[in-house]
Amino acid sequence: MDFTILINIVYIIAAILFALGLKMLSSPESARKGNLISAVGMFLAVVATLLTKGLSFQWIVLGIFIGSILGIFAARLIAMTAMPEMVALLNGFGGIASLLVGWAVFHAGLRVELLTIITVFLSVLIGGVTFTGSIVAWGKLSGVFPSKSLLFQGQKILNLTLLLSILTCGIVFISNPAANYQAFLLIVALSFFLGISSVIPIGGADMPVVISLLNSYSGLAACAAGFVIKNNILIVAGALVGASGIILTRIMCKAMNRSIANVLFSGFGSVIKQAVGEEKGDIKPINVQDAYLILEAAKSVVFVPGYGLAVAQAQHVVRELGGLLEENGCEVEYAIHPVAGRMPGHMNVLLAEANVPYDQLFEMDNINPKFNAVDVCVVIGANDVVNPAALHDKTSPIYGMPIIEAYKAKTVFVLKRSMATGFAGIPNELFFYENTRMLFGDAKKTISGLVAEFKES
Ligand code: TAP
Repeated sequence: MDFTILINIVYIIAAILFALGLKMLSSPESARKGNLISAVGMFLAVVATLLTKGLSFQWIVLGIFIGSILGIFAARLIAMTAMPEMVALLNGFGGIASLLVGWAVFHAGLRVELLTIITVFLSVLIGGVTFTGSIVAWGKLSGVFPSKSLLFQGQKILNLTLLLSILTCGIVFISNPAANYQAFLLIVALSFFLGISSVIPIGGADMPVVISLLNSYSGLAACAAGFVIKNNILIVAGALVGASGIILTRIMCKAMNRSIANVLFSGFGSVIKQAVGEEKGDIKPINVQDAYLILEAAKSVVFVPGYGLAVAQAQHVVRELGGLLEENGCEVEYAIHPVAGRMPGHMNVLLAEANVPYDQLFEMDNINPKFNAVDVCVVIGANDVVNPAALHDKTSPIYGMPIIEAYKAKTVFVLKRSMATGFAGIPNELFFYENTRMLFGDAKKTISGLVAEFKES
């Protein structure tokens, strides 16, 4: 059989495995299997690609060696809470790889067809924007650069001018690539600049959305690179990443009640600091012993995890407390907000790590109608996603964002270390409600204290 046909058949099998894997990632129950299936697809794709004639294996082996070492260290050393910046970096690497593929093909001195030249241009443009945009996103999230949005007059005009200049250079380049290398270099430089200037106006709280969008761009850049080197599986994989990234971006925007344009151009991170509202009334702190007595008498308890759960790494003790409550005859459920934490599925991943049964996890829309019948809602390091101001306060920056309706429970415990605000930087009126008790302290310590009380009784 012709080798090219065999390679393409393996590519089709790999593409089917990618699509199946992606589908399975949409539910926590099947996500691990989905990941494995996609990995098998990627393995097949790599093996098939290595069968291509004319490859120089010494460079490939060197690349695999360096990449594996970096990958192993990154996977072992990066904390779960630093995952968004890690994803930002990986998107950036994907972008620069696509740019370099386009550049390398240009230097290979091909007598290229029009379609290839256009895709070289696209892989350089999208890859360049993705690379520098992702580096800025990584810097903002990791604290290397200031995380708030940087707005200045004429910003949108600058970005539009940059884009038009790149397109003009693109037309010049495509019309005669061999004679217009300067135009090509200008495209590279301006794309880098556009990546920086389009991400700096975006504030810290919006960075996860931007990262998802950059993830989509990295897929599109890879797709363009696939056309450049005529590799079918790169085209398919790039298109899948591009499409899933944009779908995820839309889901996140919807969960925050924002449009993509609003995230990209409003400078939310800079506005929220001025939008801090008034704190009203008195808070009612409670200690672990008294909280235990209320939990011990409860017949239904809902845990609402948020970013603080990840910071405290309290997922295992929460699971233990859940088990003790069940032994005590209590119904235990977990309410998951789509943007709780700092990345999509953040809470699901943490709770799955602690082996919380999947049938106890409820999405916001499914659990909200039940809250009137809940005895105790335990909010663990969540803040913005339970703030009732989102429902009625039109002046609040989070107005319109759907929330977990924890305030409807008979008693609400809020576990956090202080009265500090959450990511949106606004006070939470839930803390001042009549039925709310503040259980101050690190969430892991507090829950361990509750577990100890149950065990001693
Ligand atoms: P946040 O509103 O950010 O609140 C987290 C709370 O955890 C803080 O108020 C903090 O209070 C507490 N905390 C931190 N460390 C703790 C510890 N060790 N023990 C106990 N509590 C601790 O979190 P959330 O409710 O999960 O909301 C997520 C926010 O991120 C939303 O504004 C959302 O729009 C935004 N966002 C999320 C995503 C995704 S995809 N998840 C995407 C874009 C934006 P103390 O400092 O007082 O302890």
